[in-house]
Parts: sequence; C-alpha cells; structure tokens
Amino acid sequence: MNRRIITIDGPAGAGKTTVSKALAQALGCVYVDTGALYRAVAFEISRQQINWKDMNVLEGFLAGLELDYILDGQKSVMVSSGQDISAYIRTNEISMLASATSAVPQVRKSLLGIQQSIARARDAVFEGRDMGTAVFPDAPYKFFLTADVKVRARRRFEESDTPGISFEKMFQDMVQRDTNDTQRTVSPLKPAPDAILIDATELDVFQVVEKMKSYITIG
Ligand code: DC
Repeated sequence: MNRRIITIDGPAGAGKTTVSKALAQALGCVYVDTGALYRAVAFEISRQQINWKDMNVLEGFLAGLELDYILDGQKSVMVSSGQDISAYIRTNEISMLASATSAVPQVRKSLLGIQQSIARARDAVFEGRDMGTAVFPDAPYKFFLTADVKVRARRRFEESDTPGISFEKMFQDMVQRDTNDTQRTVSPLKPAPDAILIDATELDVFQVVEKMKSYITIG
C-alpha cells in the first residue's frame, strides 16, 4: 500500500493550518491537524488536573485516554471519550500547556499510533512539528514552513480566541513556544534533511500553496 503522504512542519503561526487545508483541497485528499491531538492531551490534563510531571501519574492517565480524530470531508472533529472537545482546545492556556507537555516522550509515544493509523486509511496532508522527521520519515513530499516570529505572533493575535490578550503577551508566548518546540530532546521542531523550506514572511496563502503544488508531481 503506497499512500500519498504530504507533511508540513513548522513553528506556530507560520500559516501551516490554512496552507495545509488549501493544499489538501487542491489535491483532493484529507487534512490532518496533529497539533489538535497534543492539544487534546493538554486539555484533558487541565480538565482532570493531572500531575503530569509525575511519570507514574502521566502514564496511567495516557493509558486511559480515548482520543479519536474524526475526519468528515475537509472537516475534522477532536473527540475525547466520546465527547467533541474541538471548541475547547484553542485557548492560549491550552497552547502553552500543549507546548510543554508535548516535550514529554511518553506523550509523543502515545500519539504516534493514532497518527500513523490515520495515514494507513487514506491520502493526507499532515500538519505538525515532527511529521517529516519522526512520524512519516518516508513521506514523498515534505515541507517546512516558517515566517518571521513577529509576523507569526501578529497573525495569531489577530485570530486569537483568548479575550483581552495583548500583542506583547502573544509575542512572548510565541517566543517561548518556539524555544520549547525546538529545544526539546525528543522529536524537536526542525526540518527533515529532505524537506523543502518555504519562508512565508512575505508570501500569502495562495502563493505558498502554488509553490508547494509546483513540487508535487503525482496525480
Ligand atoms: O500546531 P499547534 O500550535 O496546534 O500545536 C500545539 C502544540 O503541540 C505545539 O506547541 C507543539 C505540539 N505539537 C507537537 O509537538 N508535535 C506535533 N506534531 C504537533 C504539535
């Protein structure tokens, strides 16, 4: 079975989500937001007040998690123990907790199977931090999308779900997340050796998608 897997990695706010959705639509395949899985873990840690720094507690918690990533055409729903939690995972608090907890190897290991099983069933564009390096090292097309940190913070600020948050706080949190995501020991954010690098600081979504499509030759 030879699935068409396209990976798009990069830091927060680079435009991965919009670009990945548009690319998936253009290619007629599904889009998978793996950040939603890390956010779901963080949301449950917060909701259940799990002491995640205690590895015994964390392992018990992860073993009991029942996450489902449900794809319905271009839409996706993040389900935890049968409940749609999609509306609760985009706050700034959950962004920061997901960035911290995703550095823990046990968390990453627990989400590997679910990501790979989604890919077994269909062609897909996978968006995340370690898609090209760790989850799908054999993917035929790998992109690493980045942009200037100020531009990324500005975009996130404009689309933020968090009431009252300042640009300065958004910017500082973005720098903190960049540090967490790139400095962690397991699967740090970095381009795969064979990834195509795209800097979107001065490009719009259409231009980025066109650039990506120009590299993709299979129909
Ligand atoms: O893409 P996002 O901002 O929704 O991701 C939230 C956090 O999850 C991010 O700070 C790092 C983590 N993450 C990860 O470690 N690996 C992935 N493949 C996707 C997200």
